[in-house]
Amino acid sequence: MTESLLQRRARLLGPNTSTFYEDPVHLVRGQGVHLWDADGRQYLDCYNNVPHVGHCHPRVVAAIAQQAATLNTHTRYLHEGILDYIEALTATFGPPFDTALLCCTGSEANDVALRMAQALTGKTGVIATDHTYHGNTTATHQLSRSNPPPGGYWESVAFVPAPDSYRPLGGEAGMAHAQAFAAAVDAQITALNQRGYGFSALMLCPFFANEGFSDLPPGWLDPTVAVVRRAGGVIIADEVQPGFGRMGSHFWGHQMMGFTPDIVTMGKPMANGHPVAAVVAPSATMQAFRSNFRYFNTFGGNPVSCAAAMATLRVVQDEGLQANAADVGAYAKDRLAELATRHQAIGDVRGRGLFFGADLVLDRASKTPATAFTKRVVNAMRQRGVLLNFLGRHYNVLKMRPPLPFSRANVDQVMDTLDAVLAETPLP
Ligand SMILES: Cc1ncc(COP(=O)(O)O)c(C=O)c1O
Repeated sequence: MTESLLQRRARLLGPNTSTFYEDPVHLVRGQGVHLWDADGRQYLDCYNNVPHVGHCHPRVVAAIAQQAATLNTHTRYLHEGILDYIEALTATFGPPFDTALLCCTGSEANDVALRMAQALTGKTGVIATDHTYHGNTTATHQLSRSNPPPGGYWESVAFVPAPDSYRPLGGEAGMAHAQAFAAAVDAQITALNQRGYGFSALMLCPFFANEGFSDLPPGWLDPTVAVVRRAGGVIIADEVQPGFGRMGSHFWGHQMMGFTPDIVTMGKPMANGHPVAAVVAPSATMQAFRSNFRYFNTFGGNPVSCAAAMATLRVVQDEGLQANAADVGAYAKDRLAELATRHQAIGDVRGRGLFFGADLVLDRASKTPATAFTKRVVNAMRQRGVLLNFLGRHYNVLKMRPPLPFSRANVDQVMDTLDAVLAETPLP
């Protein structure tokens, strides 16, 4: 079955359409934090943030079905759904964020945010980290160092080394590391000015998720924010991964880091799997964008999408899922720290709320990334019915980012399985 599906995919979708795991999983059903494959085997989902409030949450399913059975159009007709949702969404921010543009993917949201920054500054130079991913449009693809565009990068794009709290820039930790990051941004602003593009925006994930979610304290980005403001640029916070309560302590990643960005983008978990994304901005920024770009998005903000997004947001709030993320996430980190006392491969335990993991190393003294070993561990976990993955600059950071109803008992299953897998998997 798996083999024939892989062959059909290759024939119908073309080459290089990636699948997770050496032995790809053929899923047919999901419920809460569990998934089932075509043979009826159950998996614990410790990876997916799109089913934010749990796979097939009944309130979200009902909201989609009810609105789909009533009306679905686009935003050129009047409808309360989009307005009610944007009021509820912006209430999670507070001033100055009082407007939003709804679209369908995180890539679209980031693409719009780049144009907003252009409208505000009149410049086109953009800075990102050198191990990020911000999307698949022509403009956002230019920001992805892990997947270089054929023909090379635009000269209006510049990169700074991604933060790494375990192996910090210049060997220095804490605020020295923060100052080094800010100085790198400053140098790239100068370079963009010299190349004639000027500086428009710094786009970053406040949790640096794709970079390996380094352990960075609140205030760590303050020197960088000061550098950007001094240069007249804007900060775009890409909240596609940390947003919507996952961090536990705060609803948004930038709130956790203690800074106020100029523009915020979001997507993935926003409507529990229905394709909804957004750009949230102060009204003056939205006005600058709307008067410079005529923007219309056929599916963005349609009544069914807004019903799905509203139900998802209300479930997060009504079911106390942010508090659950704080509690269960702290428990997961404790259990990982305990595993680290017995498994030398765990070099560094990190995470916030229900986004946690470990940097795996060949030996703790040299901190040499255990890249191939990490891949083996992830595949062995899959064989034992626990879905997780890896990422980071060296692809050696275990990434655990489950749906928010994850429980302490679910954590126990993950950690007991990981304990057994680490014991059985020899370090090279
Ligand atoms: C940080 C970040 N931004 C943007 C995106 C793009 O979102 P989408 O796949 O919905 O276009 C991703 C997707 O993985 C992401 O991780």
